[in-house]
Amino acid sequence: MNKNEHFIKEFFNNTIQILLKNVRKTYKMDNLTVNALNGVNIKIKKGSFKMILGPSGCGKTTLLNVIGGLDVPDSGKILINFGEEGGFKDITTFSKNQLTLYRRKKIGIIFQFYNLIPLLTVLENVELAARFSNIPNPSEASKALLEKFDMGDKLNRYPHQLSGGEQQRVAIARALIKDPLIILADEPTGNLDTKRSMEIYELLKSLSEQYGKTVLIVTHDEDMANKFSKDHVHIRDGSIIEDEQTSHEKIYQESI
Ligand SMILES: Nc1ncnc2c1ncn2[C@@H]1O[C@H](COP(=O)(O)OP(=O)(O)OP(=O)(O)O)[C@@H](O)[C@H]1O
Ligand SMILES: [Mg+2]
Repeated sequence: MNKNEHFIKEFFNNTIQILLKNVRKTYKMDNLTVNALNGVNIKIKKGSFKMILGPSGCGKTTLLNVIGGLDVPDSGKILINFGEEGGFKDITTFSKNQLTLYRRKKIGIIFQFYNLIPLLTVLENVELAARFSNIPNPSEASKALLEKFDMGDKLNRYPHQLSGGEQQRVAIARALIKDPLIILADEPTGNLDTKRSMEIYELLKSLSEQYGKTVLIVTHDEDMANKFSKDHVHIRDGSIIEDEQTSHEKIYQESI
């Protein structure tokens, strides 16, 4: 089997979750044009635990945003595998409503500053996400997940009564409770010390290992990335740096 055939077989075997084809995103401000994504091609397998690395301003957040339907690229395709709900769909062709539904149901987002709702308790924060996604028995399901995440004794606390690591565990539970296809985390440990960061990385890794989620993490921290995953994407100036994997992808992209 040659490389092209191998990739096509893989595609149809449903092992791929996300496929980006020549994705470009430009920001224009006054007379200045920034090429945030400069024709990105990338293939991400289902259940991967992938680290996205690169210097400040290289396009990491933009990449997560276009995959998560928070932003729309200028050109290119973003194929997402919806599995039994229709196979691969190009989300760049989605209407605003379709994109909102995609974001709400299929994407779990974890931010650097947790973004919990301050007036809701730990349990209520997760429960709200469960209700939004029509999860059956939202309260029981949220409780059970928070217990798994070692937050069972803090269900009635408010976010300001928690440490940073605890707040991030609640935020991860909130992202997972809706049973998304893809979990996106942008510098999820940027605010935490090394010990707490390691705990958060371990938890995020369990989302791919135990729950089979596709997890993409943006980080500046190469050491931490190396500790937890060998699956890295390096970005510079809006482009993915070539490696063996990406050059294989090019062959594949040209073949479909
Ligand atoms: N809304 C926007 N308007 C104008 N320019 C933007 C906007 N968002 C991002 N950019 C520019 O696009 C480029 C990529 O930004 P992006 O936020 O993706 O970088 P990043 O790799 O996430 O950086 P950091 O590590 O600092 O978070 C940068 O040059 C940035 O200034
Ligand atoms: Mg960023």
